[in-house]
Amino acid sequence: MKLAGKVAIVTGAGQGIGEGIARVLAREGAKVVVADINEVNARAVAESLTAAGFQAAPVRVDVSNEASVQQMVEFTISKFGVPDILVNNAGVGVYTSILDTSLEDWNRCLSVDLTGVFLCSKYVVPHMQAHGGGSIVNIASVHSYQNVPATAPYAAAKGGVVALTREMALDFGKDKIRVNAVCPGWIYTPLTQGIFAASGDAEKMKREVAERQVLGRLGTPEDVGLAVLYLASDDSSFVTGSSLFVDGGLTAQLETW
Ligand SMILES: NC(=O)c1ccc[n+]([C@@H]2O[C@H](COP(=O)([O-])OP(=O)(O)OC[C@H]3O[C@@H](n4cnc5c(N)ncnc54)[C@H](O)[C@@H]3O)[C@@H](O)[C@H]2O)c1
Repeated sequence: MKLAGKVAIVTGAGQGIGEGIARVLAREGAKVVVADINEVNARAVAESLTAAGFQAAPVRVDVSNEASVQQMVEFTISKFGVPDILVNNAGVGVYTSILDTSLEDWNRCLSVDLTGVFLCSKYVVPHMQAHGGGSIVNIASVHSYQNVPATAPYAAAKGGVVALTREMALDFGKDKIRVNAVCPGWIYTPLTQGIFAASGDAEKMKREVAERQVLGRLGTPEDVGLAVLYLASDDSSFVTGSSLFVDGGLTAQLETW
């Protein structure tokens, strides 16, 4: 049990990667706040964790809303105590070129994927400072480093997450707060299921994407959860400001013929 006695907040934990992270952290002994804008899903994940004998509590949060984030942090402290671990996972995808992106859609993507990291960290860090340290893990993306056409808002947001990760690592190293990013490739979640469905032949696209990965498969939320566990635990006590790819080798390869 690598996280016995630790308190963790996982945003966007109502489904997909966030749910996988919450499950891994909880089974390693953390008390997990399952935070999501979708309250029904957050409650279902927290209930299934507590039914399995782990410690978890749901809370509704909109990570792009300052008052809502403050309430999430207050809830965490009153329920479990000061958070030792913050996983900024909540995100939305907006996949369009700048010409096809309305200001509203741009702001929606940036406000959740980037401003959400800023706000959650802003309200958790002072408690970690007073508590003697902590670990923040930001879920960025392979899109933070390499890009495909017509994904402007998502690319800008995820690139920003990696830059913000490095910058926060510099600001808070003196407080023993480590800040790192995980960059997932294709992970099978409701988000990517939606992308596959939109292609018109979900099974075909899923198969083709899996075949293009060096490891020949899609990732799972648990794959990402295990990387977060490493960065959240003392196993990574000398690691800060870094990005860890969990992408089945996707970014290691040039185009193959
Ligand atoms: N699935 C992938 O292949 C993949 C790859 C790289 C990066 N990511 C990143 O991983 C994270 C999770 O992705 P996923 O595939 O699980 O997505 P998902 O859409 O399946 O789940 C996202 C969760 O975030 C929640 N959420 C959305 N807006 C929110 C808000 N304003 N406040 C709080 N919660 C909010 C949703 O309700 C949902 O439960 C995202 O940041 C995404 O960009 C995913």
